[in-house]
Amino acid sequence: MCGIIGCVGRDDATLDTLVHGLSTLEYRGYDSAGVATASNSVDVVKTSGKIEELRETLEGAALTGDVGIGHTRWSTHGPPTDANSHPHQDCTGDVAVVHNGIIENYQHLRDELAASGHTFTSDTDTEVIPHLVEDQLAEGAEPERAIRNAVSRLEGSYAVAVVVAGHGTVYAARNDSPLVLGLGEDETFLASDVPAFRDYTDQVVYLDDGEFARLEDKGWTVTTLDGDPVEKDVDTIDWDPEETGKSGYDHYMLKEIHEQPRALRQCLRGRVDEMAGTVTIEDVGDLSPDGVQFVACGTSYHAALYGAQLFRDAGIPAQAFLASEYVTSVPPLSDALVVGVTQSGETADTLSALRTARKRGVKTLAVTNVVGSTAARECNHAFYIRAGPEIGVAASKTFSTQQVALNQLALSMTDADATREIISALRDLPSNVQRILDESTARSVAETYENADAYFFIGRGYQYPVALEGALKMKEITYKHAEGFASGELKHGPLALVTENTPVFAVVTGDDEQARKIVGNVKEVEARDAPVVAISDGQSDVSRYADHVLEIPETHPRTAAVLANTHLQLVAYHVANLFGHNIDKPRNLAKSVTVE
Ligand code: M6R
Repeated sequence: MCGIIGCVGRDDATLDTLVHGLSTLEYRGYDSAGVATASNSVDVVKTSGKIEELRETLEGAALTGDVGIGHTRWSTHGPPTDANSHPHQDCTGDVAVVHNGIIENYQHLRDELAASGHTFTSDTDTEVIPHLVEDQLAEGAEPERAIRNAVSRLEGSYAVAVVVAGHGTVYAARNDSPLVLGLGEDETFLASDVPAFRDYTDQVVYLDDGEFARLEDKGWTVTTLDGDPVEKDVDTIDWDPEETGKSGYDHYMLKEIHEQPRALRQCLRGRVDEMAGTVTIEDVGDLSPDGVQFVACGTSYHAALYGAQLFRDAGIPAQAFLASEYVTSVPPLSDALVVGVTQSGETADTLSALRTARKRGVKTLAVTNVVGSTAARECNHAFYIRAGPEIGVAASKTFSTQQVALNQLALSMTDADATREIISALRDLPSNVQRILDESTARSVAETYENADAYFFIGRGYQYPVALEGALKMKEITYKHAEGFASGELKHGPLALVTENTPVFAVVTGDDEQARKIVGNVKEVEARDAPVVAISDGQSDVSRYADHVLEIPETHPRTAAVLANTHLQLVAYHVANLFGHNIDKPRNLAKSVTVE
């Protein structure tokens, strides 16, 4: 996930407009940034680091032109270096491009372009675009046609903005990555998100997939990629420029919960072939370990518990360890693969466990969100969950993308009988999560139980880590006591805590023996007068014993875990919101924990 801005007609204010726009988009990525302006030539300034570093780099730079594009990056291909920062240019320097998304066929295009003499200066997938445009221009195409032709060769997701020397136009195209136009008087804008230009106009046009836009100071057009005109509605934004960054949501956490369908799609993109029933993971090589040991902390540990079960179910011995405990008594390793699950890639406990494993000579793999993070660099291999930046301290979209990534990892290393069935459940997951986001009654559950003494969460199998995660989310943002248990454990002690003022959230999916056992556990708490909130796909008869049911669609038990968790994220969020807590920055906590 990256941030794009473009503007035409801002005269002397072009550079300020681009940099200000990027600062409002920094939540979309913050590992490098850059701008390009076009007049008779194209000038580019870019740097690794945050927007502040770009500001410093721009001091004294002589950029001219009242047409410009800018970019703040969240690395997907290549580490966050100056060279990998956007904009990227062609061999002549006359074309500059910024891009958000992932170009799946970039290697093929890059090989083809390199073979015909183009020189590449970065590791990015994006850089193929200016070179494709360059070829089209060299063949005599006008810029608009050249860019349309170039873009139509791309497979994958993209929001692209382009400037060309000698043309007072910003060109843009979209497929599965957001772009919105802003319409001012004698000036037009383009961005990944409205806050980037909200200070200048409230008139907007949202681009849809497969559309191409042309922006000039006195006008704009939208066509298909083939050049057929498209009629677009102009919308009026009715929220304040103050609400920037959160796209109208009250908190980053709520925004990030709602970003899950997109994040999950991004995580799946290009890795899963439903027709062939295969999963291929880039950069991981041919790993076929005898066993897998996961090391992780907090939410990532819950994802690791889930991942270990995926491997065990596929016949590979696997265990999840709390990273901080792993180092106190390292288990026998033999030919194990040690997998660090870490959103940030910077968590000290996880890094320490991974370093311990490496010192003992075993292979390590980082499953992380941050390209170029310490875990990604230090491990033998890195596998990216592609969730995009997560600002809220409480992990939300990164947990669900970790779950999906670990499914992909397990499927890529094993011959699961049910691979096709699982792939199809993964394919349906983004839309099923969207359905829950649209229909969940979590808010009314939160209102009913906001004054509870404590909250308990129970689950079995794949739903056990979800119970743990539900409790962690509840405690860290509501500051109320919450515990997650394997439901079979309740009767071995925790049942003593259960009263009429301790709601029990029970995740029950399917109607097999496991489901029947957990329904039995639900009856135990119901008999002690505890309110029961069932998270259910409707297959078992748990609703007979529940005070509330949070429904999930019927799916594979693995993907049911992601869906159930979405409800629990929302319940925790709404309880915390009723208390008026600082949800994005809970007390005493930090996003990245870099001490042991
Ligand atoms: O960046 P990591 O995934 O390594 O972070 C590990 C934990 O600190 C983290 O998952 C933490 O538990 C969550 N922010 C809680 O929501």
